[in-house]
Amino acid sequence: MNKKVIDALHSQIEKERDAAITYEALAIWCSANEYPGFAAFFKKQVAEEREHTEKLIQHLLDLGEMPVLGATKAPHSNYKDLLEVAKAALAHEKSNTAGVLATYEVALAEKDYASKIMLEWFITEQVEEEVWANKMVTLVSRASSSNALYNLDRNIINDLAD
Ligand SMILES: [Fe+2]
Ligand SMILES: [Fe+2]
Repeated sequence: MNKKVIDALHSQIEKERDAAITYEALAIWCSANEYPGFAAFFKKQVAEEREHTEKLIQHLLDLGEMPVLGATKAPHSNYKDLLEVAKAALAHEKSNTAGVLATYEVALAEKDYASKIMLEWFITEQVEEEVWANKMVTLVSRASSSNALYNLDRNIINDLAD
């Protein structure tokens, strides 16, 4: 396999692992602040991000390469309120989309068509990810009372179901 593609795939693996640990931190913040619905939603995202990581690792293995994991940095864990949490999730998804596209561009430039096809799944997935993250920011922004936030928390899993 082409070295540039291997490096790009490794940096995307780190982005997916970083997304998983960030969502784990967001789930903990939500649990600590009595938003069990949001906590459950973010825990589901942790599982999804781990699947994404696994998919990239398997791709390297399938092509005979040895995936190597790096150190994960501590996630940000101090948030002012639920809106800041939702905005952090959206920012993270946008950055993950940028990572996927950058990896895709390397695969294209190096004519690694197997990686290109594999990464197309991630491009489609990132559209979905940004849909829920944008929707979450909108719904939290609109909930202007603690009562509204309470109700939003109870329904968020269904509201953002794909
Ligand atoms: Fe992901
Ligand atoms: Fe994601």
